[in-house]
Amino acid sequence: MCGIIGVTGTGPAVPRLIDSLKRLEYRGYDSAGVAALVDGKIERRRAKGKIRELEAVLAAEPLNATIGIGHTRWATHGAPTTANAHPHKAGRVTLVHNGIIENFAELKAELVAEGHAFESQTDTEVVAHLLDSELGKANDPLVAFKTVLDRLTGAYALAVLIEGEDGLILGARRGSPLVVGWGEGEMYLGSDALAVGPFTQKISYLEEGDFVAIDRSGARMFDASGAPADRPIVQVSASSALVEKGEYRHFMEKEIHEQPDSVQHTLSEYLDFVNGKAKSGEIDFATIERIQIVACGTAFYAGQIGRYAFERLAGLPCDVEIASEFRYRHPALTKGTLAVAVSQSGETADTLASLTWCKAQGLKTAALVNVHSSSMAREAGTLWPTHAGPEIGVASTKAFTAQVAALLALAVTAGVQRGRIDPATEGELVRALFEAPRLIAESMAMEGSLKDVAHDLSKATDVLFLGRGAMFPLAMEGALKLKEISYIHAEGYAAGELKHGPIALIDEETPTIALAPLDDVFEKTASNLQEIAARGGPVIMIAPKGAPDPHGAGIRRVDAPDCHSLIAPLIYAIPVQLLAYYTAVQKGTDVDQPRNLAKSVTVE
Ligand code: F6R
Repeated sequence: MCGIIGVTGTGPAVPRLIDSLKRLEYRGYDSAGVAALVDGKIERRRAKGKIRELEAVLAAEPLNATIGIGHTRWATHGAPTTANAHPHKAGRVTLVHNGIIENFAELKAELVAEGHAFESQTDTEVVAHLLDSELGKANDPLVAFKTVLDRLTGAYALAVLIEGEDGLILGARRGSPLVVGWGEGEMYLGSDALAVGPFTQKISYLEEGDFVAIDRSGARMFDASGAPADRPIVQVSASSALVEKGEYRHFMEKEIHEQPDSVQHTLSEYLDFVNGKAKSGEIDFATIERIQIVACGTAFYAGQIGRYAFERLAGLPCDVEIASEFRYRHPALTKGTLAVAVSQSGETADTLASLTWCKAQGLKTAALVNVHSSSMAREAGTLWPTHAGPEIGVASTKAFTAQVAALLALAVTAGVQRGRIDPATEGELVRALFEAPRLIAESMAMEGSLKDVAHDLSKATDVLFLGRGAMFPLAMEGALKLKEISYIHAEGYAAGELKHGPIALIDEETPTIALAPLDDVFEKTASNLQEIAARGGPVIMIAPKGAPDPHGAGIRRVDAPDCHSLIAPLIYAIPVQLLAYYTAVQKGTDVDQPRNLAKSVTVE
């Protein structure tokens, strides 16, 4: 995940930027850079690779300044080269960015037509050019900045230096976090509290859509509409531990909110955003006859979502099995099978044993894991990494969506390699995946309605989750999340299975949560919901605003963002997680360490 730091003060800025970037190394990166205002001119130093390479560049060409910005880049648009490393510069503007500017191609075409010359492949550079243009029209940098922000679609955190505006750094956040740090005669911007941790423990957390101007004496903050905003200063722990809860009450809440970033970084492993293509990796899916996924718990549900995509997009038969069953069942697998272990920890005993068994049968193996040095990562022939970062909450959230994101992207690769997806469809699917981080961020807006629903759920003893297609495994994941952290009994069912038994459970006391994106089976799900409502069961339907109303007394709606059906499991995972989270908070359970559970199950 890219890291951002900005410093404006009176002492030497660059050593501080470097100190901060070192603390952000844990996020992973492949290049780094700083920019500083030296005698009224902005100068940059950038390097591919680690911060020590940047330090070597700085040792050869030092920057003496009291104001600067720094960045560690995790490549999404364009290879990890010095030219693609941040900060990016256009005219008077130099800036760093975390996130994805989805409409960068349109904006770039417009700017190129106006005569702007680009020097990188990044989506970020368009923001620098746009702002430089706007500065030519508006005298006030904040007015120009707001005009530019209003033109951007996507997820971003930005820190900006402007030549001629000594002492000023602009910042903005949408989808990616950004904090303001308050020092004595010195102010900071950072991608998290850790970034500014060496200098101050006084932090203001910017809210979604906020933008800010900092100078040596303080900060002026504005909300998305441009109205002045007052974000409280909070005192954070002085500890520089790698993982802190920051502004959140629980790690689970923090990890839910990290998903725009963790999904983006995972997708960038598997997709080429610049060219709108799925990357080819070590495995050629054209040579694979069948996929066998093995996993436990939440990872098993991610695998099941993957199965829908592999079969639909690539015509590739895919089985998914709980590892603890698979390993003792003596399954009959053919030689052309690719065995895939899906696991956050990479250490789950049953999944690891299943992987080892498959390898011993002479099958090709891959491990989709979040811990890249884990036993599964080492055991498998191919490592498919997820980039969710450390997951502390016992109930898996960001590791799950990272697994789903990777599997969806791999299914697109498989579809292309097997000749099932033409270039136009590939472009459409990659664009859809590309929108996921922003739509995940937008899904957080459901929080208010979901808190109300959670209030009611906390009184229930049984809850049903329903969905069709890829929403069926997500319904099971929703039930698992609720069970684990709120201790309420819950079941996830395929909506079409209701009549075959579960409908007997319906009464006024048993709420049903329906996951109903507007896809080709929406009408069918809606009619299942009417059946429940007709029997007096309370129904909460999570669906896009534009979805028709299933006429039934008691159907309550929570509006989800519109999205492509491919990414619906990523978008609908958010309300599912938030519901479980707020229900548990309402019940006062130990959210991050629920009773009887361990984060990594390394024994049988
Ligand atoms: C549920 C949860 C567990 C894990 C399962 C597998 O929230 O976290 O169900 O998904 O124990 O763990 P990993 O993915 O580490 O193999």
